[in-house]
Amino acid sequence: MTAHDHDHQHGHGHHIDDDHWLAMLDHVELENEVFGAFVTDTAHRLIEIRGPAAPPVRRVLDIGPGPGVGTCAWARLFPEATVVALDASQAMLDRTTARAAAHGLDGRVEVRLAELPAGLDGLVDIDVIWASMVLHHIGNEVVTLAALSDVLAPGGLIAIAEFGDPQRVLPDDLDIGRPGLAERLDAAGTAWVAEMRKGLPGATTSDTYPSMLEAAGLELVDSPRVGLRVDESTSDMTRQVVFGHLQRLRSQFVSGLDADDLATIDILLDPADPRGVMHRNDVFATSSRQIFIARKPS
Ligand SMILES: C[S@@+](CC[C@H](N)C(=O)[O-])C[C@H]1O[C@@H](n2cnc3c(N)ncnc32)[C@H](O)[C@@H]1O
Repeated sequence: MTAHDHDHQHGHGHHIDDDHWLAMLDHVELENEVFGAFVTDTAHRLIEIRGPAAPPVRRVLDIGPGPGVGTCAWARLFPEATVVALDASQAMLDRTTARAAAHGLDGRVEVRLAELPAGLDGLVDIDVIWASMVLHHIGNEVVTLAALSDVLAPGGLIAIAEFGDPQRVLPDDLDIGRPGLAERLDAAGTAWVAEMRKGLPGATTSDTYPSMLEAAGLELVDSPRVGLRVDESTSDMTRQVVFGHLQRLRSQFVSGLDADDLATIDILLDPADPRGVMHRNDVFATSSRQIFIARKPS
């Protein structure tokens, strides 16, 4: 998704259904599946924080579920809960609904088309809110957190997952192109997010998540950093994750990279080139998510 697309869609008050994003949906789904442990780890931490005497979790709200991998994980992890998946994209919600049905969870997964911070009306007494890689796509994050706080039950928890360590998929001493490609991709990514945010409706400069949670009246309880790793270099799945990742960066950061780096990425993405990621034996995928867990005061 380019900053222009964002501006166009949000600026006209439309829900999001961006072609570029949709083209990446298969990749996002695969990535969410292979990195799924960070959802499970967070859920187990929430169970610890709630304590052994807490009643079962009955209402979960998953904002910005994308293809719904997390949504289904929450439904599995909390078998007495209904999970509401709220997204501004109908295509994402359709994918979430299909995934829930395929996993036999459709009776407990509901979808809601809404563009935050609006669209929470009617939701009350939510036990757990999951906000994974979505808040940075919303113009005013503090207003959104305050609106989310309003729908939490007293003592309810919100878990936010945001960027941790940058993703790495190839060794530093890559045998193609100029050294330092990974750092230049990181810089292009940071610039892309900053530019994208400028186009969001009601865009304000964001503070740190602990500060924004406090401003929204929520109490920070824990902030673990959870590692993500796939390192079976010879597996087709790892190659596919790395291929999709580079393909996404290639199209998103095209204006932030020079011709040499674009040529290097093109070699890596060439299925016929033995130096390409579909043939290399040194590919892997590591990253991390920074989790923030906060409680609504009782
Ligand atoms: C990067 S995806 C995150 C998908 C998944 N949760 C994950 O962890 O990978 C961001 C999701 O947030 C949704 N989104 C972006 N802005 C939104 C808004 N203002 N209100 C609701 N959903 C939004 C997008 O449609 C997309 O599904």
